[in-house]
Amino acid sequence: MSQATWNSVDDYFNGLFSLDDSVMQQVQENCRVAGLPAISVSPCQGMFLQILAQSCRAGRILEIGTLGGYSGIWLARALADNGKLVTIEYEAKHAEVARRNFDLAGVGSGVTIINADAKPALTSLIEKSVDPFDLVFIDADKPGYVDYLALSLRLSHQGTVIVADNVVRKGEVANLETDEERVVGVRNFLKALAAEKSLRTTALQTVGVKGYDGFSISVVL
Ligand code: SAH
Ligand code: DHB
Ligand code: MG
Repeated sequence: MSQATWNSVDDYFNGLFSLDDSVMQQVQENCRVAGLPAISVSPCQGMFLQILAQSCRAGRILEIGTLGGYSGIWLARALADNGKLVTIEYEAKHAEVARRNFDLAGVGSGVTIINADAKPALTSLIEKSVDPFDLVFIDADKPGYVDYLALSLRLSHQGTVIVADNVVRKGEVANLETDEERVVGVRNFLKALAAEKSLRTTALQTVGVKGYDGFSISVVL
């Protein structure tokens, strides 16, 4: 199996399930023109996140790592009219592109972008005693994932779904020899998930236009 095969199957699914509408194409084009890295989730993965959010009837969603807002739009489309997406991004340029994209997609009124480093931003949400989130999507810097988990748990309730991107890293997650900081970061995160008695967790390997990677999926017990 090769990247070309994975690409053609993703293309097939995108067409079959109409996953790449003109708004989403414009959003990706805006990200490309602004010079953002092409590391957003894929259309199939975006719909996976949207379905997770809809199946837990998420009214409040927290995203850590906005980039240009692509995954956030998928998530925001799962919200009811008065629902809220809070998404954290420390690069001002990314946050600006994301703001335009959320507005373009017609979800802007339900989205708050916090343009700050994720750890202090999360700590501040905890200090403000904001209502807990129903779904958390972790997708920022990989060495930060362990802390994002600990902080997210303090912003969760029983039944909150916590999903994290990029936990397989071409299979490197199971290579105990590696000292690559992103791989070590996700492995420490997975160990923390496993040790957390208040969570039920699994992880799924994925292939597609984003290569070979995967998601962890947890629910707060
Ligand atoms: N979720 C996005 C992709 C996120 S890429 C999507 O699928 O569309 C990761 C993003 O996290 C980048 O925009 C990066 O600038 C941001 N990021 C990295 N470290 C961060 C930190 N410490 N705090 C907040 N954002 C961070
Ligand atoms: C990278 C980050 C991501 O969130 C992703 O989905 C793919 C790649 C990266 O930092 O290389
Ligand atoms: Mg990612």
